[in-house]
Amino acid sequence: MNILLTGGAGYIGSHTAIELYKAGHSAVVVDNLSNSNPESLRRAGRIVGREIPFVRADVRDREAMDRVFGENRIDAVIHFAGLKAVGESVEKPLEYYENNMNATFVLLEAMRSHGCKNIIFSSSATVYGDPQIIPITEECPKGHCTNPYGQTKSMLEEVLMDVQRADREWNVILLRYFNPIGAHPSGTMGENPNGIPNNLMPYITQTAVGIRKELGVFGNDYDTHDGTGVRDYIHVCDLAAGHVAALKAIERKCGIGIYNLGTGHGYSVLDVVRAFVKVNGVEVPYSIKPRRAGDIATCYCNPAKAKAELGWEAKYGIEEMCRDSWNWQKNNPEGY
Ligand code: NAD
Ligand code: UD1
Repeated sequence: MNILLTGGAGYIGSHTAIELYKAGHSAVVVDNLSNSNPESLRRAGRIVGREIPFVRADVRDREAMDRVFGENRIDAVIHFAGLKAVGESVEKPLEYYENNMNATFVLLEAMRSHGCKNIIFSSSATVYGDPQIIPITEECPKGHCTNPYGQTKSMLEEVLMDVQRADREWNVILLRYFNPIGAHPSGTMGENPNGIPNNLMPYITQTAVGIRKELGVFGNDYDTHDGTGVRDYIHVCDLAAGHVAALKAIERKCGIGIYNLGTGHGYSVLDVVRAFVKVNGVEVPYSIKPRRAGDIATCYCNPAKAKAELGWEAKYGIEEMCRDSWNWQKNNPEGY
């Protein structure tokens, strides 16, 4: 299949491009580069031995999207494009709602008018809020999202399902990612955050490489085995492979499909720090800080549905995630 990757120059999209080519698909990337560097795609192209077609455009630009669909036969879309910084979304709610909602509306209209009715959407475990069931299954009710970023994910899930209910020719897959970390094992591609990282792993790697002085561990009084927050970290290459598996469901005309993409294992902040130090033989100084507003104690999934229906499961463990994150950071201390 030929797949349009919106936001495909970003962290997850660029790794997914590699998995698509490895599986015999091809891809076209549309990205406005608001949070990425096209070097990611040049490097992905080197790994797959082919240049990955790239169009610099905003998904909200209907004319540009019409051109992309007019000039390429697109069988399915993987919609990564969106703003994703939780804290920033609290400060700039309008920008987040406007970008994430409008980009999806314009994309869906363009898809409809060009007869492409297959879409995989990057959703998030954040839609479960403070989850009612641990491990989280897809039956777990959605919860209250404490920030505009999470609200856009939850609302867009509803929009996409309504579109499919109105026209059963659509196939809509909602992939709820848990915590993607890690990097391509080549050490040439990885996460490239702007400014001070908000997420745990980039903060750890930047501390290990000396860009940050110490990691702040946000709270050690949660109801978890060591008091620090527990999450379901998943290697970005496993996550990328999950999209290829989801395409097979689209080929089978699945209608609506909702899947958790995680490993099913929960690791605390200190578990991750310890694994990182052990695997890489580097120091990660840290100190305990107050809890971060909006954080929950525990979030990990039951990934059985994705295994049963998509034939997908995560292969990499926490040690490989730590190894590959560090390999990327130490080879590319300035990012791309
Ligand atoms: P990323 O920021 O690296 O990639 C997103 C890409 O979208 C960027 O390259 C950015 O330039 C592009 N973009 C944003 N708005 C655009 C627009 N209007 N038009 C064109 N391009 C636009 O983020 P990522 O980590 O690769 O995440 C990909 C998707 O997965 C996002 O939708 C994100 O919300 C979702 N997600 C990410 C995580 C995570 O932890 N990384 C977790 C759950 C869900
Ligand atoms: C966060 C977002 C979530 C988003 C995901 C991926 C919040 C509340 N949730 O998830 O919506 O989908 O990122 O972008 O922001 N931690 C530290 N020190 C740090 C950074 C993190 O101790 O410097 C801890 C956190 O308290 C948490 C764990 O590490 O317990 C993971 O944090 P993070 O990587 O930010 O992911 P989430 O908060 O799970």
